Amino acid sequence: MSNLVSELLAKMTTEEKIGQLIQLTGDFFQDGKAAITGPINELAHLKLQTVYSVGSVLGVSGAADVRRIQENYLANNRLKIPLLFMADVVHGYQTIFPIPLGLGASFDPTVMETASGIAAKESVAAGLHVTFAPMVDLVRDPRWGRVMESTGEDSYLNSVMAQAAVKGFQGDSPWDEKHLAASVKHFAAYGAPEAGREYNTVDMSEWRFREQYLPAYSAAINAQAMLVMTSFNTLFGVPATQNQHLLRDILRDELGFHGVVITDWNAIEELVHHGTVRDLKDAAQKALAAGVDIDMMAFAYAEFLNKAVELEPGVLKLIDESAQRILELKETMGLFADPYRGLDESKEKDPEFIRDNLVQAQKAAEESLVLVKNHRRTLPLSQRQKLAVIGPVAQTGDLLGSWSWKGDVETTQSIADALVDTFSEIVTAPGCGYHSFNKQQVEQAKLLASDADVIVAAIGLPSSESGEATSITDISIPAEQIALLKELKTLNKPLISVVITGRPLLLKEVHTLSDAVLIGWFPGSKGAQAIANILSGKVEPSGRLPMTFPLNLGQVPLYYNAYSTGRPIEVGQKNGEYKYVTKYVDSSNEPLYPFGFGLGYGKILLTDMTMVSNSLKMNDQLILDVTLTNDSPRDSKTVLQCYTHQKVGETVRPLKELKWFKKVTVEKQSSLKIQVNIPVARLASVHQDFSTKVDVGDYQVMVGFDSMNLKVLDFKVKE
Ligand code: GLC
Repeated sequence: MSNLVSELLAKMTTEEKIGQLIQLTGDFFQDGKAAITGPINELAHLKLQTVYSVGSVLGVSGAADVRRIQENYLANNRLKIPLLFMADVVHGYQTIFPIPLGLGASFDPTVMETASGIAAKESVAAGLHVTFAPMVDLVRDPRWGRVMESTGEDSYLNSVMAQAAVKGFQGDSPWDEKHLAASVKHFAAYGAPEAGREYNTVDMSEWRFREQYLPAYSAAINAQAMLVMTSFNTLFGVPATQNQHLLRDILRDELGFHGVVITDWNAIEELVHHGTVRDLKDAAQKALAAGVDIDMMAFAYAEFLNKAVELEPGVLKLIDESAQRILELKETMGLFADPYRGLDESKEKDPEFIRDNLVQAQKAAEESLVLVKNHRRTLPLSQRQKLAVIGPVAQTGDLLGSWSWKGDVETTQSIADALVDTFSEIVTAPGCGYHSFNKQQVEQAKLLASDADVIVAAIGLPSSESGEATSITDISIPAEQIALLKELKTLNKPLISVVITGRPLLLKEVHTLSDAVLIGWFPGSKGAQAIANILSGKVEPSGRLPMTFPLNLGQVPLYYNAYSTGRPIEVGQKNGEYKYVTKYVDSSNEPLYPFGFGLGYGKILLTDMTMVSNSLKMNDQLILDVTLTNDSPRDSKTVLQCYTHQKVGETVRPLKELKWFKKVTVEKQSSLKIQVNIPVARLASVHQDFSTKVDVGDYQVMVGFDSMNLKVLDFKVKE
């Protein structure tokens, strides 16, 4: 503990220490001054003086507002302890990048790092210190609306992206004034609610949690994330926010996290609804005992205020520990030296500053778009072709997605407008609404499209239909939009569907009706231009799917790294058994589009693959020399992917697990040699005693450009 923090703690009253543990929204600061207004008035014990002793504020940004609040607060805080300002800057502050599911689709951690770094720079100029990001919850159920906020279904991809995001947000310590503290969330396993229903029960074995869900949080913490946010859900039968096994044994003792733990919104009060505490005071005590430092808007820690003098020594000790961690965070962020650190009204509005960021946002979008069908090379289009851009997403700026903080939909370029800038002749009409259809509107669109060369159907959903509290039971593209595609199909022109979505959707009919299908996610501030550049061939699509797109909802949760089961179809078929094997009677087990899948415009083949040694020791690397050949007339990008399988394990082993990937460019008419290095340590698996170690034995490595079509080599790991 530094002298500054220890001297402060020695001067602070118990009430002042408790104040540091309380986080309020900006509602408590009217015109910069503390105010207890509206429904909050009922919180009788929350006095004005309490507001001047809280430790942090969430949801306020903007240089002038932050400065006004901080100035007034410091003028009224006895020991001049500055406020921390926190907000959900998830995929951009003012310049919005693709949603994290799109950033994951880039399969390029430098894209994530750049996006997070720019988000941090813009946020710091606007007075923020902490972002509630990255969200690293592994997801496998597209019914859950927050899959948009994750980088997908694979723990290795999520771990790589989590590390890149923390690095981008935080930079390298010690702090400079262009970076934020990252609060990795939601700890833990919030992405696995039963039936994909928001805030629903999460229950899984600790073995599965450790094997699949924990790695990405661990990667973020190893990247020095400064905060962790607890999740709403239960895990192992106890709500995360009071779960000592999760927050003390695993997070603090095992992962060695010494930073600040903050709850999700009102999560302490929700313990009462979970039925694991008697009342709010009991909830406060249990959260504090579990090591929660900051109470976000539950006013639970405020319960300690009115009986501070009666608090037992054990509680006082826990309050001291939490207050210390919060003060240390403030010191690390440089706030005691300068409470206005990084805050810069002029930079916040500097068009130069924003312009450069938009260039990066466009590049990120171009890297994240995934081409999943391109029948007879419909794409790329010639810029001389006349395009009819039809669909509910054609003329809207609603391309930013949920959690797009200060992003402005009104000034975001639409797909139609971006195509106008790129192609010689464009006509456009909505054709139908997101969920509405009328014959007249369709006829108008068909008439408009009748003399176009190509039809681009801009379809999908509004950003309001994904994100928090948007779980749905039907992930189909709306029937009205399928009806539109069918009408457009009657014009017998090439039909390209661009799908704007925050989650995998059921696209079987879209696939059948379209000659080409491009998954756009919510591509951000410059997403429309990125889409135009892909359609025109100026940029090659190079995104790959970070989450499986199922054939039908009944398959969900459907993910690539599944286990064999005792009755695999392949074994059954070999023995002539087709009934009693793991399958459905009404559907294939296969997805529409698998994890890792995506198309480019070139033609890259894996023409050679040799293993340097097929007998490895624990400290070795699995080394493959791979040759890729591009015999197309254009440079082309692809994502080389390496999966491994452990043939026999103490616990079941996935049929394949992503262990290495790299986005590479192979020049036209040439070959590229790549060396793949996979540390044997990366083959570690979780055993029944929860130890994580590599087993000796037989393994396979599988190499390709998605998770389905792979070249296989065998190798051994020895003592
Ligand atoms: C929300 C979200 C969380 C967010 C927090 C603060 O309920 O669950 O991700 O950071 O509240 O806005």
